[in-house]
Amino acid sequence: MATVAELLQPVEADLEALLSDLRSLIGAGHPILQAAAEHLFSAGGKRLRPGIVLLVSRALGTGGELTSRHRRLAEITEMIHTASLVHDDVVDEASTRRGVDTVHSRFNHRVAVLAGDFLFAQASWHLANLDDLEVVKLLSRVIMDLADGEVKQGLFRYDTGQSFETYLEKSYCKTASLIANSARAAGVLSGLPEHQLDGLYRFGRQLGLAFQVVDDILDFTGNDQQLGKPAASDLASGYLTAPALYALEERPALAGLIEREFNQEGDLAQALELVRGSQAIQRSRALAEGFANEAREAITWLPASDSRSALLALPEFVLSRLY
Ligand code: IPE
Ligand code: IPE
Ligand code: MG
Ligand code: MG
Repeated sequence: MATVAELLQPVEADLEALLSDLRSLIGAGHPILQAAAEHLFSAGGKRLRPGIVLLVSRALGTGGELTSRHRRLAEITEMIHTASLVHDDVVDEASTRRGVDTVHSRFNHRVAVLAGDFLFAQASWHLANLDDLEVVKLLSRVIMDLADGEVKQGLFRYDTGQSFETYLEKSYCKTASLIANSARAAGVLSGLPEHQLDGLYRFGRQLGLAFQVVDDILDFTGNDQQLGKPAASDLASGYLTAPALYALEERPALAGLIEREFNQEGDLAQALELVRGSQAIQRSRALAEGFANEAREAITWLPASDSRSALLALPEFVLSRLY
């Protein structure tokens, strides 16, 4: 199976340029905020989201060329994503991200909150400067969704009565919205008709949901080193993701452990055992596969190119993180 770098190969040079452009874009702020943002940018994430924007843009361009507005959109997408991670790690009290200390552990909470705000604000400014109202609406909606998703997730902590639908809505807000709306925005900048914009949106939405379900499975099956962040932390924090929700249907004893917030010795280990020993992981995998297939089907209309092939291979790549 291809690595993410191999998959993003058609836009490899674009992604290199993106990193240095991001550095100069955030260069104008306060030195501390700059250092905090730089800290995560240089830790090197997968750059999946800007990669998707760039691949979509190249797949749509005549002769596969890229405009400076498409490039800027890719930068804005990664800025918004990184901002959301800085804030998410504060909310989750996570110690590592991308294999390095989180911003709040490297600096402090105040710096992390401000650095996240700073990145969101920078992203909004550059977004407005694209001078396309439809694109501004799409991406500012994403920023609303991200906050909404964090709040939803917080409200349902340790709530064993929450529906699967609530979990999927939260996942849309936190993960799928950015991928869906940035893919659609790339199409808007290319002047695509409505039905094709819908296809790009659906691709990003279903891929994002698959990605989140996979991330939620890995939290149960991976280790700290593989993940670059602490494993088994969702359940411990009371975040009930697909594996936990499926396991609750099969193992009634799990509800009691969650509802008393694992406050007795051995509760968490027992809960993890219950999830891992049920069909929950397999069922979550099937859910992710369904989303991945839907993502693929949504963009088969793209004209043949290396970028199209890479986009079509992405859903499978997302699933391959499980193996
Ligand atoms: C992490 O996203 C947040 C989730 C939606 C699970 P990524 O796994 O894409 O993070 P980076 O950008 O590669 O670090
Ligand atoms: C990541 O969400 C942050 C956003 C997508 C906004 P999670 O809490 O599920 O991801 P990790 O596990 O910290 O990467
Ligand atoms: Mg988190
Ligand atoms: Mg997670």
